[in-house]
Amino acid sequence: MEYLTGFGRPIGTSAPRAAFDTDAPRLSLNGTWRFRLAPSVAEAAGGFWAPGFDDSGWSPLPVPSSWPMHGHGRPAYTNVVYPFPVDPPHVPTDNPTGDHRLVFEVPAAFEGLGARLRFDGVDSCGRVWLNGVELGVTQGSRLPAEFDVTAALRPGATNVLAVRVHQWSAGSYLEDQDMWWLPGIFRDVTLLARPAGGVDDVFVHATFEPGGHGRLRVDGPADATVSIPALGLAGLPTGAEHDAGPVEPWTAETPRLYELVVATATETATLRVGFRTVAIAGGILTVNGRRIVLRGVNRHEFHPDLGRVVPLEMVRAELELMRRHHVNAIRTSHYPPHPDVLDLCDELGFWVIDECDYETHGFETVGWRGNPSDDPRFVEACVDRMRRMVERDKNHPSVIMWSLGNEAGVGANLGLMADWARERDPGRPLHYEGDRGCTHVDVYSRMYASHAEVDAIGRGEDHVPHLPFILCEYAHAMGNGPGGLAEYDELFDRHPRCQGGFVWEWLDHGIRRPEGDFAYGGDFGEPLHDGNFVIDGLVFPDRTPSPGLVELAAVYAPVRLAVRPGEVTVRNRYAFRSLDGAGLRWSVTVDGVPSAEGVVRLPAVAAGETEVVALPVGPVPPGTGEAWLTVHAVAADGLEIGAGQVQLREAPLSVAGGGSAPRREGGVIRFGAAEFEPVHGRLARLGDLVLRGPVLDVWRAPIDNDRLGPDPVAARWRAAGLHRMTHRLLGIDLTPDAVVVATRVAAASSDRALLTWYTWRHVERGAELTVRVEPTGEWDVPLPRLGVRLELPPDLGDVGWFGAGPGEAYPDSRTAALIGRYRSTVDGLATPYVLPQENGNRADARWLTLTGPDGTGLRVEGVPRIDFTARRWSTQDLDAARHRADLVATDRIHLHLDHAHHGLGSAACGPGVLPRYVLRAEPATFSVVLRALPGSRERR
Ligand code: GAL
Repeated sequence: MEYLTGFGRPIGTSAPRAAFDTDAPRLSLNGTWRFRLAPSVAEAAGGFWAPGFDDSGWSPLPVPSSWPMHGHGRPAYTNVVYPFPVDPPHVPTDNPTGDHRLVFEVPAAFEGLGARLRFDGVDSCGRVWLNGVELGVTQGSRLPAEFDVTAALRPGATNVLAVRVHQWSAGSYLEDQDMWWLPGIFRDVTLLARPAGGVDDVFVHATFEPGGHGRLRVDGPADATVSIPALGLAGLPTGAEHDAGPVEPWTAETPRLYELVVATATETATLRVGFRTVAIAGGILTVNGRRIVLRGVNRHEFHPDLGRVVPLEMVRAELELMRRHHVNAIRTSHYPPHPDVLDLCDELGFWVIDECDYETHGFETVGWRGNPSDDPRFVEACVDRMRRMVERDKNHPSVIMWSLGNEAGVGANLGLMADWARERDPGRPLHYEGDRGCTHVDVYSRMYASHAEVDAIGRGEDHVPHLPFILCEYAHAMGNGPGGLAEYDELFDRHPRCQGGFVWEWLDHGIRRPEGDFAYGGDFGEPLHDGNFVIDGLVFPDRTPSPGLVELAAVYAPVRLAVRPGEVTVRNRYAFRSLDGAGLRWSVTVDGVPSAEGVVRLPAVAAGETEVVALPVGPVPPGTGEAWLTVHAVAADGLEIGAGQVQLREAPLSVAGGGSAPRREGGVIRFGAAEFEPVHGRLARLGDLVLRGPVLDVWRAPIDNDRLGPDPVAARWRAAGLHRMTHRLLGIDLTPDAVVVATRVAAASSDRALLTWYTWRHVERGAELTVRVEPTGEWDVPLPRLGVRLELPPDLGDVGWFGAGPGEAYPDSRTAALIGRYRSTVDGLATPYVLPQENGNRADARWLTLTGPDGTGLRVEGVPRIDFTARRWSTQDLDAARHRADLVATDRIHLHLDHAHHGLGSAACGPGVLPRYVLRAEPATFSVVLRALPGSRERR
């Protein structure tokens, strides 16, 4: 099987060309094919390509498909490492080989025309026969391959297509992207009629000139004519420059497309084009002469049930979801997407970095010895891949940069890929993060640079200060996180050459399990895998937004509002769009209840401009309640494009206590509504409410960012025993107006401790608790959290609060949360991260209630504020769970009341928690009031 080890070169394919629609006949060959899987090439019987072969014993299989998602073989996940020995160009003997067959009728309309068979994606290598005639071999999984089938096709008759797909080929060495290994014919298969003298290929050069005119040159068949009806252009020759007259430019903010028709005597092609000019001017990346900021995400193509096949409706829905969350840029990590994706990017408006299907990261593990990027035997495959991407996607206005690939080290082949692209398409800058010296590329690109480093680069303190700077990956969105997004965004705002970046990544690549949750690496018995490192997206595998996406939307918001009593400064962060038609929706709330609201129209604040807008907000209603002015900027289509708040009045801090004295009675301590047990000195009852008393808690179920990275803080936490702290009672003191419980909280085998005093005072229907914590001994680790936990009866499932919300918030992921009054349930507070971990914190609650159906329950008041989390399982259960299905409701509610949290950071890949969000073990005091709620009469 020499083609398998042929250094990734396709065989028999025709010259690459652009993807576009024409009026020539075409036939989709997607559908149900016949399929058989063999564990190796040698065990795959031959002869099946013969038209008369009997495939009745084979299984039906949809095409496109990733066959392991249909019960044939198993998915496998690795990040960097190859799941086979590094021995290029050789591949394992055990090379799963899937034979595919399709019997189909070809309409008579194909009679007398040439024809091509197009595969949009075959992973990793497919050998193709039509009607028993061998056509050739595909290579380059995420790139199109076309075969000329004019001679083999039988128009008006039954045809038989046979494709043998191998999971491994030499090309696999070039496709070591961090994702599941999923063989199959995973994109469309199409038969295309090719009329003689037709429009085989078109290269549209449509630029936007400073005066507002479009310039147009269409390279295509010499005898073709070009027209753009909407511009009154008709019958233009190909190959010549034209002034297209005044045009509306294409930008990601204003994605104006024009229909362009290229016609010869035998074929008419229709494309949607946009006029736009990409340039690097004065060290700044510009489009149509203006600086742009890439508020981007890295997008992989993955579906939790289908693998690498993503139905078009889902793609459209997810791109719309991105737009609604103010994502304006996509890096197609790490391969060209399905061609339809770029059509949608043109239409919906995204700045796209189109990346070649090229990554050789696994060579890092062997010291980059034998890296294909520098092996002349791979040069053809490398340049071929670049060429096929550029040729396919060259007409998309959304594509503003080509990327050579990802994590492929350095080497001459990369230079040749760059040279080829630059020569073919001088209209787009080149990107490759691995080219640190920027020898071949036009932008300085990095991944996971820290805030401090980005700031230094912003000041020009790097080796290429004359180039624009982008973060092709940042803010690793694995599990709970990322933290620190707002601080990156400030740097993009502050430094002109820091032109944004792409969050890693859009999507969790989880595979749906029968249990209803999602699998990750190792769940299919892979001997070598990278666990849940493939679960690192802003949306869950089913595209449900995670809190990270909600935070991103607030940070990426195009409009910044600085709200002051009675007015708001509106900063338009669009590069091209004015705020014409947008409005400000404002409301005044007292203790979270609206007292006044209104809408004002925004003036047409121009792109990049700032204006102060007065709000007709009257005086705050008399009283003592906490008052806020909240303002939402809303676009004409109703989308929120910015938000801000200002506190108009603080509520006085008054906890009316006293009037009761504690006493020992029948082995317990009674103090107003509170009853304490004497062994640990913990609260056991509050009125009728049975609970298990607040006890100091510093542990959280580590998030991925705690657990991973070069110096994982969770390992230090566990070494310090923070997950197994014990509580020794030092004494219970009854004073005339307080119960004071002194404890020493420490871990076995450690001499460091948190001395903790709980001081209880009487309040109506409850008690005020003040917790004082004093660390003793050497505390060289931060604390995961600092608060108390208590256990409540399971029926108090309704939650209400006045504080930050509605979603979860942590110190370094707090932009999206606004102060207000919210309701939820204990179940609704939880975020179902694919790998269970700390989640669900609601920040800065002034008060919260947990109530049962009859309104009885618990009210907690922060003095003045408290974070809280309520769940039906303990932190230990959460810590132990590996999948969502492992979390089973217990017979109680575990309520955490937290004074402080350690930040989230992004350490799973990249910088950890910023110093200001590190929770240091220091003396601290905090208070809460706990009151029993007797019933609906009293409910708030
Ligand atoms: C980068 C890589 C991505 C992904 C990420 C971590 O190094 O380019 O593909 O692996 O790290 O999730």
